Amino acid sequence: MRDRIEHERSIRNEDRALQRRHKQIDREELDPRITYPSYKSFDEFIDLKRLRALDNYLNERIQKHIRTRDDEKFHTGDLTIDAKAAKVPGSRIIYLSKSKRDFNYWDLNVAKLWEPAEDATEFSLLMDFIRTLPFKETARMMIMYDGSGNPVTAHRDHHRPNLLHEFVWFRTSLTKPFYMLDPRTGERRYVESYTAWFDTCNQFHGADAKPGLSVSIRVDGTFTDEFRARIPVPSCNLASTPSLWACIGDKT
Ligand SMILES: [Fe+2]
Repeated sequence: MRDRIEHERSIRNEDRALQRRHKQIDREELDPRITYPSYKSFDEFIDLKRLRALDNYLNERIQKHIRTRDDEKFHTGDLTIDAKAAKVPGSRIIYLSKSKRDFNYWDLNVAKLWEPAEDATEFSLLMDFIRTLPFKETARMMIMYDGSGNPVTAHRDHHRPNLLHEFVWFRTSLTKPFYMLDPRTGERRYVESYTAWFDTCNQFHGADAKPGLSVSIRVDGTFTDEFRARIPVPSCNLASTPSLWACIGDKT
């Protein structure tokens, strides 16, 4: 009994500290043209037919992983919507590239620190598709899958408003109910596209529970100069760039 009370008190304290961190991020200055929740679809820039054609290929290989492997568990990080929510919700990760040194979250977009992972050879058609994305160079590449049917707790990936990660999040089918959530209003917006680039700092993202297998892929790196030329640059809060692009369109 005393243990339970102690545990509840510690969760309450943890939650208060967490909500202070969220409030601090929510107070960061933002371009007034941005509204949350928002994301930038890349569907117009990629070969959707080719992506959708990978659906069975990917699912078969992941099912084999579920049967035969114990892939790393996905961790949301510390910035979950509340302290009680699961930080290890049940999703697993297959790395297509691996860090050359002990993994550090802040390395995720530094191409020179990443090299191909053994599992990439199993997913060669996916790797061929990744080579068609608008990257000059790639860094962390990973498949996230969930066969448990659990929700993915809403979370922010990081707390640095001036850090912009250039990445593409994508999937071969629209089955995963993946959403962006505005922490200030609680409004949710479900991703309706096969691809998305989104602000991982100033809003939350997460997924609803869904029976069956859910799969998404995230590739981080550096966009090509040609691609960068069309992206509007906010005067503050670089992390908000995908949302600015979603809200105002191409740089003029
Ligand atoms: Fe995340």
